[in-house]
Amino acid sequence: MTTVPAPTSPSTAALSAHDSNSSNSNSSYYRHHLFFCLNERSNGDACCAQHGAQAAFDYCKQAVAQAGLAGQGLARVNKAGCLNRCSAAPVLVVYPEAVWYTFVDHSDIDEIIESHLKSGRIVERLLIAPEMGR
Ligand code: FES
Repeated sequence: MTTVPAPTSPSTAALSAHDSNSSNSNSSYYRHHLFFCLNERSNGDACCAQHGAQAAFDYCKQAVAQAGLAGQGLARVNKAGCLNRCSAAPVLVVYPEAVWYTFVDHSDIDEIIESHLKSGRIVERLLIAPEMGR
């Protein structure tokens, strides 16, 4: 895990911008909005549902609430359909920074919450490579 460098890309710029001490200094209703792909393909093609996406979503939603991070000006964890990055499954994306993560287990979700949501630091080891799509 590393600290986000000086703003040189849209994602790092967004993180720096939102690192102000206000919980909602911009016009966003939520400071962070997380979308978990829960898509399941019945034809056997790769999909997030095959990789524990539902369990991770359920865990994240509960962990964010227990951490006191859920609600207006804070964070929201939502289900999503296919985000068209299936080759990196399972997939979640955090806005407004548009940071795309993959994950393996609950400890990865914990790290995203602790680092990204609480401290504004991207968890680089969980980032999806930019070229990974469907
Ligand atoms: S099935 Fe999850 S990104 Fe496509």
